[in-house]
Amino acid sequence: MQPSARFPWKSEYTVGNESIDEQHRTLLELAGLLHMAVAAGQGYKIIQNAFAALVKYTEEHFSDEEQFWIDAKSAAVEKHKRLHRQITEELLALRFEGPYGVVFCTPNELTNWVEHRLIAHFIEEDQGVYRNLTPGAKRKRASA
Ligand SMILES: [Fe+2]
Ligand SMILES: [Fe+2]
Repeated sequence: MQPSARFPWKSEYTVGNESIDEQHRTLLELAGLLHMAVAAGQGYKIIQNAFAALVKYTEEHFSDEEQFWIDAKSAAVEKHKRLHRQITEELLALRFEGPYGVVFCTPNELTNWVEHRLIAHFIEEDQGVYRNLTPGAKRKRASA
């Protein structure tokens, strides 16, 4: 996949583990595709597919990353799992069943989630947890 123009990868997002960074890049690409679909006012099916792909990959990434922290014997696992749950719930809330059917977020609401929750999480929490691992644990791969 090409990096999305909407949420381009920046070096400051780098956690330092190749497989985690790869997954983070994919998350931004999937978020970019969803953004394109909502901004263009695409039909239900296209937006729903893009939304479902982002939700699925977010859940897979969080689960892989939690296993990575567990294997690396990080002390931050439980707190980190709670953060992942909150961020996932906020993503799920960007799609809701209204009285007249399913309503998706606006492009701005999605951008808010991506920038202030997802990317902020890469920078504040993922980088922080990674920095505190032992050098041996840092070399492992998260299963993608
Ligand atoms: Fe992450
Ligand atoms: Fe994380």
